[in-house]
Amino acid sequence: MNQAADETTIARVQTLRAQLQAASYAYYVLDAPDLPDEVYDRLYRELQDLEAAHPDLVTPDSPTQRVGEKPATQFTSVRHNIPLYSLENAFDLTEFRAWEDRWRRQAPTVGKVEYVAELKIDGNALALTYENGVLVRGVTRGDGVSGEDITPNVRTIRSIPLRLNTDTPPPVVEVRGEAFLPLDVFEQINAEREARGEALFANPRNAAAGTLRQLDSRIVAARRLDFFAYTVHLRDEEMKEKEHPSSSSPSSSSSPSPSTPPSPSPSPSPSSQWAALDLLQTLGFRVNPNRQLCQSETEVQAYFNEWDTKRAQLSYLTDGVVVKLNDFALQQQLGFTQKFPRWAVALKYPAEEVPTLLEAVSFQVGRTGAVTPVAELRPVQLAGTTVARATLHNADRLAELDIHQGDTVIVRKAGEIIPEVVRVLGELRPEHATKATMPTHCPQCASALVKPEDEAVTRCINSSCPAIVQGAIIHWARRDALDIEGLGEKWVKQLVEQGLVQSVADLYGLTVEALLPLDRMGQKSAQNLVDAIAASKTRPWASVLYALGIRHVGTVNAKTLAQHFPTVAALATASPDEIEAVHTIGPEIAQAVFQWFRVPANQTLIDRLQRAGLQLAASPEEQAQLAPGPLAGKTFVLTGTLPTLTRPEASAIIEAAGGKVTSSVSKATDYLVAGEKAGSKLTKAETLGIAILSEAELVAMAGPQTA
Ligand code: IVH
Repeated sequence: MNQAADETTIARVQTLRAQLQAASYAYYVLDAPDLPDEVYDRLYRELQDLEAAHPDLVTPDSPTQRVGEKPATQFTSVRHNIPLYSLENAFDLTEFRAWEDRWRRQAPTVGKVEYVAELKIDGNALALTYENGVLVRGVTRGDGVSGEDITPNVRTIRSIPLRLNTDTPPPVVEVRGEAFLPLDVFEQINAEREARGEALFANPRNAAAGTLRQLDSRIVAARRLDFFAYTVHLRDEEMKEKEHPSSSSPSSSSSPSPSTPPSPSPSPSPSSQWAALDLLQTLGFRVNPNRQLCQSETEVQAYFNEWDTKRAQLSYLTDGVVVKLNDFALQQQLGFTQKFPRWAVALKYPAEEVPTLLEAVSFQVGRTGAVTPVAELRPVQLAGTTVARATLHNADRLAELDIHQGDTVIVRKAGEIIPEVVRVLGELRPEHATKATMPTHCPQCASALVKPEDEAVTRCINSSCPAIVQGAIIHWARRDALDIEGLGEKWVKQLVEQGLVQSVADLYGLTVEALLPLDRMGQKSAQNLVDAIAASKTRPWASVLYALGIRHVGTVNAKTLAQHFPTVAALATASPDEIEAVHTIGPEIAQAVFQWFRVPANQTLIDRLQRAGLQLAASPEEQAQLAPGPLAGKTFVLTGTLPTLTRPEASAIIEAAGGKVTSSVSKATDYLVAGEKAGSKLTKAETLGIAILSEAELVAMAGPQTA
């Protein structure tokens, strides 16, 4: 240890720092990671080891000397009262034991301990401040010392209570936890981005980060972010920690000692992590149910192994297990290093990368005409599923990988849902292998492909290309578009191949007789399909507009446009400037919409849809629903006695602001307005994680026109 460093070591340290710095800039500031986490972790570890062996090489600006990167600047930067520490990683049992040995050396008299094992949620940490029980601030982790104030966005997360569920809230409470996107939402967002020709998010964590930093909180609201809480700081504890940020000497705990009788107050200061999680749940937070109180290292290991397989069934991603010493007095005794708590460790699941053989490269044509190269692989087991295909993204990526027929490739499915080829093992390439290149002509319709210089995407621009037509029909039938039940891929493929449908307008001329000749189509399913298509004629104008598949027009933009242009004629004749004048609609979107209506084939399509009886104008009800009241689209339930308003008065306020009042609490409820003597509705709302409002909060949300 501690030898003078040679030139090679000095150079290596410098290289590592530069690489880590570039990677963390891409990750934290740009939200566009360019290094797999596993690689980053290894490089980081290598640097840490070199610095440990040569302490004279440590500089204050080394990536090991700070928690992260500077936050980007669109939101106000806020200093955290207590820094948001990160966790030390352990990649195997030996490393876990090393952590155990380390903290035990600091607390040699401690015998048997309890551990809390929690899933490590692969999301974004948030710090939430409640003053007198009311949510006043939500801040991102940022660089751990200061983050961005994203309170309006945080308020849209339904699993975050706007008010703590207690009658006697401490003056200040800070709750921390992980915001994340459920996998199905992530897939939906990416599908929409693909439809709009935008770059895809690499994984749910980046999609969540991008969403949290959206300046328009309405977009955030539409994205169903979720949140699991894992720590709670009551003000007095917070002050203590501020005074002794890395105290390692035993000090008296602020928590009641075990001999103190249980306090009658509903939110006593917890004395263990296990109790803190229960308290968080009582206060109205979503706490991950898969936690476990472990009595030994063996139990921790068993939990880790159990979740290595079970995590594949979760609706969100977890990349490991966080192990915390349960007793807060012991936590306090151990304290923090510059970066980590000494009383916790993250046991990480190994990287999910495997080698396999590339059998062929095929080319898929999407509904926007985008041509994606796809690796056809010898099937391998990866992250609990069999993978036989992996995306190669686009022409640039294909060229960069320099992939050849018969190559051995590394496929990865870490955060990603779609497996991808991360690299090629060139040294294993068979002799005379041919290089894979993008085709010049569409594999579906043979027309010439187009790739604009400044875009990554290669496109087929033949609007009657069968792949584009199929994609357009599948999009048309989507649940959030015209919701045509039963019109899935297998029927669409046949309808297009048999020449029965060449445009979505053709769907409305289909009859039972015309459908019967299709492979495996019976009388009953034919009738159901015809009925489902007919039912789609009642879908509102905003849904039709989204279903048309105009570039950049996802569900949110479609609603906004439908609200400002209540008829197709109004939109079709609007100038780009008029479209752009709509708040949140940018020049790119305006151009895409304007251009779309200039294409003769699209004008014909609109005429045919009009004749088929689709809703190309907003009905009065739709207009009312689209009206931009502050509570538009939100469903409320009232319960208990409100301090000043009667029920009809409260309902009137909600409705005037565009909201809806229903009588019973269900998953569809957005807010429960609770007064005195609230009963079972309150309990039900809590179990469903529905936000609870007081009368005052409701009035504030409904805005000035109701006051
Ligand atoms: S505790 C002082 N518990 O993992 C310790 N963190 O790699 C605070 N994370 O920054 C963290 N799930 O964003 C904790 N159950 C969990 C977690 C968790 C995910 C994140 C957190 C942290 C990162 C460290």
